[in-house]
Amino acid sequence: MTGRLDRKVALITGAASGIGRASALLFAKEGASVSVVDRALPGAQETVAVITKARGEAIAIEADVSSAADVERMIKRTVDTYGRLDILFNNAGISARTLAFTADLSEEDWDAVLDTNLKSVFLASRLAIPIMIRQGGGVIVNTSSAQGIGGGPLVSPYCASKAGIILLTKTMAAEYAKQNIRVNCICPGMTDTPMMSAYFSSLQMDFIPQGRPGDPEEIARAALFLASDDASYVTGAFLPVDGGWSAQLVVPYKQGP
Ligand SMILES: NC(=O)c1ccc[n+]([C@@H]2O[C@H](COP(=O)([O-])OP(=O)(O)OC[C@H]3O[C@@H](n4cnc5c(N)ncnc54)[C@H](O)[C@@H]3O)[C@@H](O)[C@H]2O)c1
Repeated sequence: MTGRLDRKVALITGAASGIGRASALLFAKEGASVSVVDRALPGAQETVAVITKARGEAIAIEADVSSAADVERMIKRTVDTYGRLDILFNNAGISARTLAFTADLSEEDWDAVLDTNLKSVFLASRLAIPIMIRQGGGVIVNTSSAQGIGGGPLVSPYCASKAGIILLTKTMAAEYAKQNIRVNCICPGMTDTPMMSAYFSSLQMDFIPQGRPGDPEEIARAALFLASDDASYVTGAFLPVDGGWSAQLVVPYKQGP
C-alpha cells in the first residue's frame, strides 16, 4: 500500500502530546520516518512506541525548541539517523503563562511565550532550509492559531506569537519558493488536547459555528495535506482549522436573531 508520505523524513516538534502526537501517528501511517521531538522525553517515547507497534518508523528526541543548541541537536540527530529532512513541522507551543491584561504582564511572561512559540520557528527553519535546498526541496508546516488571526483578551503574548508565525510563514514561502520549499501554517481553533481541555468546562461552545471543539486528528489531517504533494501548489497559506471560529465576528443580540 502506498502512503502520502512514503520515503519522506518528517521532524515534528511538540509530538509528545495533542496535535503533535496525532500528526506523528498520521505521518508515520502515511509512510514517513518521524523524528518525534519534545521537551518531555517520556511522552515522546510513548508516541514512538505507538508508531513502532503499528510497524511505523520513528525516533524520540528530547529538545527545548526555544534553545538554539537543542534545535541544532534535534536537526542533526534526524539527518544522522535518516539521511535527510523533507518535512519540518514546527508545532510545539505553550499558552500564555498567566492570564493578564497586557500592562500587567512581566517581561518573563512575554519572553517565555514568544521564545517557545515564535523564535523556535525561526531557529529550526534557518537550519532546515539549507538542508532542504541541498536536497532539492522540502516542506515546512507551522502551527499558528485562530488567535493568530483575531486577538483575545488576557493572552496577548500568545496572540502576538501566533500572528508572528503567519507572517514568518508567508515571508519564508516567498523567499524560498524558487528552491522548491513550500511553507504554510495551520490555525487550529479550540482543540481537545491537554493544553486546552481544562478550560472547556468553563466555555460555551456556541461561539464556534460548528458548535464543538476539534479533535487533534482533525488538525493533523490538515497538517498532512499541507505536508504532502496534495498541496504542491500551496505555499504561504494560513489554513484555519477551527470549525468556523475565525470566520465570524460574533454579534451579541440581546434575543436570538
Ligand atoms: N489546543 C488548542 O486549542 C490549540 C489551538 C490553537 C493552536 N494550538 C497550538 O497547537 C500546538 C500544539 O498544542 P496542543 O494543543 O497539542 O498542546 P499540548 O500541550 O497537548 O502539546 C504541546 C506539546 O509541546 C511541547 N512543548 C512545549 N514547549 C516546548 C518546548 N519549549 N520545547 C519542546 N517541546 C515543547 C509540550 O511538552 C507538549 O508535548 C501549539 O503550538 C498550540 O499553541 C493549540
